[in-house]
Amino acid sequence: MKQWIAILDYGSQYTQLIARRIREMEVYSEIVSCETTAAQLRENPPAGVILSGGPSSVFEDGAPTVDPEIFDMGVPVLGICYGMQLMSHRLGGRVVPGIEREYGKMPIEIMPGNPLFVGLPSTFTVWMSHGDRVEAIPANFTRGAVSATCPFAAMFDNEKRFYALQFHPEVVHTQYGIDILSNFVFNICGCVRDWKLTTWVDDTVERMRTVIGDDEVVLGLSGGVDSSVVAVLLNKAIGKRLHCIFVDNGLLRYREAEQVEEMFKKNLGLDLTVVRAAGRFYEALRGVEEPEAKRKIIGRLFVDVFAEEARRFRDCRYLAQGTIYPDVIESRSPRKGPSQTIKSHHNVGGLPDDLKFELVEPLKELFKDEVRAVGRVLGMAGELLDRQPFPGPGLGVRVLGEVTKEKVELLQQADLRVQEEIRKLPDYKTIWQTFAVLLPVKSVGVMGDQRTYEYTCAIRSVNSIDAMTADWTRIPYDTLARMSNRIINEVRGINRVVYDISSKPPATIEWE
Ligand code: XMP
Repeated sequence: MKQWIAILDYGSQYTQLIARRIREMEVYSEIVSCETTAAQLRENPPAGVILSGGPSSVFEDGAPTVDPEIFDMGVPVLGICYGMQLMSHRLGGRVVPGIEREYGKMPIEIMPGNPLFVGLPSTFTVWMSHGDRVEAIPANFTRGAVSATCPFAAMFDNEKRFYALQFHPEVVHTQYGIDILSNFVFNICGCVRDWKLTTWVDDTVERMRTVIGDDEVVLGLSGGVDSSVVAVLLNKAIGKRLHCIFVDNGLLRYREAEQVEEMFKKNLGLDLTVVRAAGRFYEALRGVEEPEAKRKIIGRLFVDVFAEEARRFRDCRYLAQGTIYPDVIESRSPRKGPSQTIKSHHNVGGLPDDLKFELVEPLKELFKDEVRAVGRVLGMAGELLDRQPFPGPGLGVRVLGEVTKEKVELLQQADLRVQEEIRKLPDYKTIWQTFAVLLPVKSVGVMGDQRTYEYTCAIRSVNSIDAMTADWTRIPYDTLARMSNRIINEVRGINRVVYDISSKPPATIEWE
């Protein structure tokens, strides 16, 4: 049975971080719903349970709770923030509503005897983010730490192996946060380092062979990291019984379709069909200016084109997808509620009813950086693995207003120069995304003795952790200057370059 740490998700924005930190220690951890019962956990007993933070207050009606039997399972439990309040509330302590939120870095002083803090100095700085706080700890618990505003910044019951922290050890602003988590995982739960991606690759290849048996699989290859890794992984497992379909919608980066074909078909020998559908997309987009209308047209046509091709493989039993762990968590997060559609995102939408594939999602337990690491284990090129995110509708949402072949080609040329220059920066890998946008604005310029009247190109570059918020990158002026000079001098049709200095929110990363 697999050794793992279960993280009950109470909806904190940091829950994923807890799982990642533990996996970085080479111990497998998985986020499960906060409604998971002790009986469910017993089916594959974890070495320890973590109750995550969350936005709720234990006093609210319908506040998420914990199956009390989990405290009788005999496994160590660590409550973090809301998890600590919940633990205290359920085990007989007293939680009081906070008058003000305590948010930010805070020094704490630790008490002796808490195994979570073994090897740490007596005071250090932690990251707090809470409203309510524990005013009295349950019987048998000992105070573990104090801060100026928090009488119980930590508490523990060594006999039952219950531990709790009011602060967030998973956040980088907490000094020794990793040490605290590793004390829990190794010293308290007794885990060993056994989660290695090389083993994962071998196991998954074996598992895929067993699951797929003699059947065949269809995969929509997008050229992005996730579907590319799935392709290489499944190719290793079942070879030519994997059939990849790549739709060239005419909205890709410069020469991208050719590069995908070269890499996957020529170099890796995959069975790949490239569907050249650019003309159909330009035709469908003719005269359409409104961003949502463009997104919908591109999304629907993509499904149509993909489905037409996939029908050739209708005898295949499976459809493989590059779903990754954050997609899985997001689709079941307690925070997910009705929210306004800002942009309709499109990847592979629903297929028509006559195509009844079963899904294979080999990456669905991995984080993005783990997917990249798997790619490296599989020997894939760094250039492909370190790619920045690229929206499904591609340059269709970066040519503002009506999309035409000519405008797409102009943008591809500008974007190529932006990509070439940004890659020269030593910290290129820390940038979330950098790209060019073609504005439907013409302005006057002068070239030699000639007056010009041409398009404007905007450069967009952002730093972000999860694309939910983003700040514009402070690209060195020299790099911006080279991008601008090269675009204006080398790309006929653009005579002005501007840099986008808007953060998200209130702007978004893509312009449409
Ligand atoms: P926005 O523009 O909403 O973008 O701030 C957030 C992130 O999502 C990417 N993006 C998409 N990704 N399908 C995708 O897979 C889409 O339709 C799509 N639209 C935007 C965008 O590039 C940024 O990283």
